Formats: sequence, structure tokens, C-alpha cells
Amino acid sequence: MRIQIINGPNLNLLGKREPEIYGKTGFDEYLNSLRNAYPQIQVDYYQSNVEGELINKIQEVGFDYDGIILNAGAYTHYSIAIMDAIKGVNTPVVEVHISNVHQREEFRHHSVIACACKGVICGFGLDSYRLALEALVNL
Ligand code: DQA
Repeated sequence: MRIQIINGPNLNLLGKREPEIYGKTGFDEYLNSLRNAYPQIQVDYYQSNVEGELINKIQEVGFDYDGIILNAGAYTHYSIAIMDAIKGVNTPVVEVHISNVHQREEFRHHSVIACACKGVICGFGLDSYRLALEALVNL
């Protein structure tokens, strides 16, 4: 099984960025533990701060991989282009967020990409990615 994790803008700063919201663990460290917990699954990782590059990656893997775990960061709330990219591919996409966006500012309550995704997981810290992986494995 092949799963692609895609992280959007500012998620390269995990561990340093607003640690009271996003925690103190960098994504590379978390990714190691996730890969160790699921040795039978190929978990690929991509991060970009650029909207078009996220779309390119969705298109690249979206016909071959078994699932995409997507944290589109702030693009979640306004990128119709990313929503269209998700709709345009076959691979199921799980939208994830580290924080519980519904407990935060009003503008984070709405996701324009959720309607194109298989499901949404938010609020469990980095464990949101593992929960998304579990969901994809059990589809
Ligand atoms: C986030 C929530 C978004 O609102 C925010 O813009 C992010 C991170 C999360 O993982 O909690 O960059 O997607």
C-alpha cells in the first residue's frame, strides 16, 4: 500500500511554529515514528508552501496511490484550485488538521476542500495523521 502525506504552507515549521497550538515535535521526527509503526505501508512525504506545487503533487500521485493525507494549511479555507485538484483525481483524500479548527477563529471553521475529500480529521495533534492513515487502510 502506498500513502502520500502532503503538507501545505508553514507546516515545514512544525516544532517551532506556535508550539502551544501545533506542539513541539518536528514533522520529520513524527514521520519516523509513523513509518516505524506501519512498516508494511510505503508512506511518502511532501511539503510545499506553494499552492500550485501542492496541486502538482495531488495530480502526480492521485491516480496511482492508495490514499492521500492532506493538510492544506490555510489553503484549506479558500483554495478552490486545491478542491478542484482533489475532485479531479481517483485516490481518496483525507483532510487533516493538527489543531481543532472549530475551536479557533471563525475563518478556520469552513473548509472549501472538505466536500471533495473522503473524510476530515482534526484536533488530535500530530496523531491526526495516524488516524487518517488508519481510515485509509480500512477503506
Ligand atoms: C492547520 C489549521 C489551519 O487553519 C492553519 O492555517 C494551518 C494548520 C492545522 O493543521 O491545524 O496552517 O491546517
